[in-house]
Amino acid sequence: MSNLPLSSPLSDSNECHGYLPRHVAVIMDGNGRWAQKKNMPRLWGHFRGLGAVTTTIKAAIEMGIEVLTLYAFSEENWGRPTREIQGIFSLLERYIIKEKDNLNDKNVRLKVIGNLEKIPVSAFKKVKQVEEQLSENSGLILNIALSYSGRNDILKACTELARSAVEGQLSVDDISPAVFEKFLSTKDLPDPDLLIRTSGERRVSNFLLWQLAYAELYFVDILWPDFNQAYFASAIENFSKRCRRFGLVSEKV
Ligand code: IPE
Ligand code: IPE
Ligand code: MG
Repeated sequence: MSNLPLSSPLSDSNECHGYLPRHVAVIMDGNGRWAQKKNMPRLWGHFRGLGAVTTTIKAAIEMGIEVLTLYAFSEENWGRPTREIQGIFSLLERYIIKEKDNLNDKNVRLKVIGNLEKIPVSAFKKVKQVEEQLSENSGLILNIALSYSGRNDILKACTELARSAVEGQLSVDDISPAVFEKFLSTKDLPDPDLLIRTSGERRVSNFLLWQLAYAELYFVDILWPDFNQAYFASAIENFSKRCRRFGLVSEKV
């Protein structure tokens, strides 16, 4: 699988199959249901979900994926019970501390997007510290969406764009999709080519709304703690068999 060419728009030859996604985004859903099925507290599901995170990172590295974005916590998730929220951030903080050296050994660069001002101070400090420590690495970009909202990402970009225009750094007539994207939290990343969502839900849940415009969607019924390398490989294989058109026409269609 890893010898597939990287994903790109249709070439002149209309060859559209056999590409590897450059950027895979994952909505890691189903931790709570996984735990409830076992008569365990929801937090147990979040804990076991971290095992699937490690497996997925490993699979992405082995397959030569450039960017892996994991949706770990949405802005809407702040509405959950305080105990669950505290538990999630405490697990996350411990996970980052535990995995830091392993990620570094694997040349992984960490990036975190979302409204980080809201997250607990100790988790914020740890995340920022590890982001800095891994910043010189050149392998997989592991992008974690934390306290993330696609709408707020777009809204924040609009606000900053408007401010630049008012301050005269940008002419309103020069605003284009390419200029707009520079104000999004993902400004240095290619758009996701493939979106995977586990747990059988078939929705985007306020994830990367702008960036997913032409992503291929892949839904799998498995609950996140049970996701593994084989499921990841199946998603990539499925993607590689699809013909992306980007609104164009292909002789093969
Ligand atoms: C995904 O699992 C993790 C987070 C949203 C933090 P859920 O906690 O949403 O699990 P379900 O969907 O309730 O089973
Ligand atoms: C989406 O899952 C957010 C994350 C996986 C972090 P949710 O469980 O919060 O989404 P809904 O409520 O099913 O749409
Ligand atoms: Mg859920």
